[in-house]
Formats: sequence, C-alpha cells, structure tokens
Amino acid sequence: MPSESYHIPAERLRRFATEVFVRAGMARADAEISADVLVAADLRGIESHGVSRLRMYYDGLKSGRHNPQTYFEIISDKDSAVVVDAHESMGHPVGVRAMRLAIDKARQYGTGAVAVRNSSHFGIAGYYTLLAVQAGMIGLSFTNARPSVAPTFGVRPMLGTNPIAFGVPTDEECPFLFDAATSIIQRGKIEVMAREGKPMPPGWVISRDGELLTDARRADAGFATGENALLPLGGAGELMGGHKGFGLSVMVELLCTALQDNAYMGHLPPGKGLPAQVGHFFMAIDIEHFIPLERFKAISGGIVRELRAAEKAPGQNRIYTAGEKEFELEKCHLQSGIPISANLLNELKVLQVEAGLGDDWLVYHQTGEVV
Ligand SMILES: NC(=O)c1ccc[n+]([C@@H]2O[C@H](COP(=O)([O-])OP(=O)(O)OC[C@H]3O[C@@H](n4cnc5c(N)ncnc54)[C@H](O)[C@@H]3O)[C@@H](O)[C@H]2O)c1
Repeated sequence: MPSESYHIPAERLRRFATEVFVRAGMARADAEISADVLVAADLRGIESHGVSRLRMYYDGLKSGRHNPQTYFEIISDKDSAVVVDAHESMGHPVGVRAMRLAIDKARQYGTGAVAVRNSSHFGIAGYYTLLAVQAGMIGLSFTNARPSVAPTFGVRPMLGTNPIAFGVPTDEECPFLFDAATSIIQRGKIEVMAREGKPMPPGWVISRDGELLTDARRADAGFATGENALLPLGGAGELMGGHKGFGLSVMVELLCTALQDNAYMGHLPPGKGLPAQVGHFFMAIDIEHFIPLERFKAISGGIVRELRAAEKAPGQNRIYTAGEKEFELEKCHLQSGIPISANLLNELKVLQVEAGLGDDWLVYHQTGEVV
C-alpha cells in the first residue's frame, strides 16, 4: 500500500500553528512568529524543524518549560554589542528580536552582535540569518543545545548539535545561505532510519565502549540512555576531518555561552520538564560600511555561479551552492502546498483537538491537490 501524504497550503499551516501557540498561552504576535519559523522550515524542506515540532513546543509551553510570554531583558548594551536574558521565553520571537537589534546596531556601527541567554530551541538557525540578508547584510546565527555529540576521540555526549547559519545576499534572487548542524547528522534522521530498518554508515554514532555503530535501531535506542553519542561533522577520528567539526562545534558553544554567561554543555538542565536555558548568538554585518552593496552582490553572485559551473564529477550533473536546494523547494511548496505525511497529519489532528480548535483548521486533500 503506498504511504499516504497530503499537501497543505503554507498559509493554512501557518494559521493552524499560530492558533495552537495562542491556545498554549502565547501572545498572537509572538505566536505568528513561532508559526512562521516552523512553516519556513517546512517550505524549505527541513521537515525535522517544521510543524512536526509543534507538539514539542506545545507540551513545553503547557508544562512551564517555556515561558509563553516573551521576555527580552537587555542586560548590557555597549555600542554594537548587546546581551539579552530571555527568561525561558520561546526561542523564535526572541531570535527575531535579537537579529533585528543586531541589524539596527550594524546600520549604526557597521557590525552588530546580540548574545542571548536563557532561551529555548529556536528552530532553524537560517531563519534569523535571512532577516539580515533581506536587510542587505551578512548574517550569522548560532545556538547551543543539550549534549548529544562526543568530542573527537571521546565517547560521551558533551556538545549539542550546535548549528551554524551564515548568509549573504547575491545579485541573484537566491542568497548564499549555509545552515547546518556541526554534528555529522541529526538524531531525527537516525530515528527515521531506525524505523525503516536501514543501516547507517560507520562514523556517525559511537557507543560508550568506542564501537562505531551501523545498526540505526541500536544507535537510536542508546541515545535516550546516554550510552551512544553522535559524532562531529567529518565523523569519527581525524581521517575525514572529524576534529574540524569538533572545533566548529566548540566555537558555537563558546559564542552561545561565554559571552552571555549562559549554562554550557552538560550544565544545561537535563530532561524534558526543565527549562531549556540554551544560549544564542546573532551577528549582522552591514556591507555598505565596507563596500557598495551592489558591488558586493556582484562578487558573491560571481562566486556562486563559478562554483556551480565548475567541472562535475563523473555521474554528477549539478553542483549546488548552499541555500539553493531550499530556495527551489520553497518555490515549489508555495505552489503545491507543504507535503505532510499521514502520520504527522494524525498527530496534528490530535493536537488540534487538545488545543480546542475547530475541525476546519486542518482541512486537507490528497497529494497534489491544493485546498
Ligand atoms: N535549533 C537547534 O538546536 C538546531 C540544532 C541542529 C540543527 N538545527 C537546524 O536543522 C537544520 C538542518 O540541519 P542539518 O545539519 O541537517 O542540515 P543539512 O545536513 O541538510 O545541510 C544543510 C545545508 O547544506 C546545504 N547543502 C545541501 N546539499 C548541498 C550540496 N550538495 N552542496 C552544497 N550545499 C549543500 C544546504 O543548502 C544547507 O545550507 C538547519 O536549519 C539547522 O539550523 C537546529
């Protein structure tokens, strides 16, 4: 039997997620931001951080793990540098306010940086970076997360998946946007492989006794107990550059904790019921302070075009630059709706009832049909 999936228009999904967040206690304006971040992830094909996370945030808000009200307390504001305490607010509205502040500072000083403490999971790092790019600036966003990644030559989870998002405008519609975890893979992708009984390449996951696991089910089962750890970008050891992913991950941890006096690594509260207390770091660089924006865009556009036009490896007909795949998917999903699996749709319907919404919030049609 073919697995069913449904296409839901982005706007409907956005309204649905907004209502769920409002029912969980958020102010409408903040709920709209959180919903937009989730739907932006789905539009860009990053399903792991889309509406599939709605349940996680809803439970977090209802249980008191996240503060439904957004706090944005400015602890320190010196020239281009700001430190903010988010008091366990939702990471999305905090992230948007922080990056907007970084952009304002960059307009004034050339660069602006906002370090945030005591926040929560902010979804895709690239969302905030794109705000800077849309303002004609270079954007950088980082966050730390609860430990799941072992250091090179280690076996215990010490670092989070600590993503890096770096973006610049180009003279094309599509910006350059690199947005990825510093772990070799995300846990969510291993969960899917475990469910499907697929094997994993060695070098993604290490067990406590140092075995490089290839059985996704075993790998997945050992995450919850802390027996297994993901490995940094580049994989196990030094051979494929795992130490470089390790270094990048530590860089993110430092930017997201040491500047804002935030809890780090294993000092982050454990478990689902407790506040997340993660830290973020946002930076905007105003290109016009360096060079006319149009000249910068011509050069950045030239770089991505030359890379894409480079000689291809046998069997490959396309070289991508970061951000391209997601940009194309977004265009496609805006036309056809966001594909939602039958399982996820069922989960959303349960949430719909729990949040006390009417049935008409999630009207859906079969694959390919737009509501
Ligand atoms: N909030 C958190 O705690 C947290 C933690 C980890 C990851 N994330 C988010 O998860 C998302 C997915 O992360 P991921 O590590 O799975 O990403 P990934 O491995 O899918 O890599 C995505 C990046 O690689 C680029 N890319 C993909 N194929 C390419 C190719 N062939 N050539 C050149 N570039 C290519 C994409 O454009 C994108 O910039 C990100 O948005 C990230 O911010 C969030």
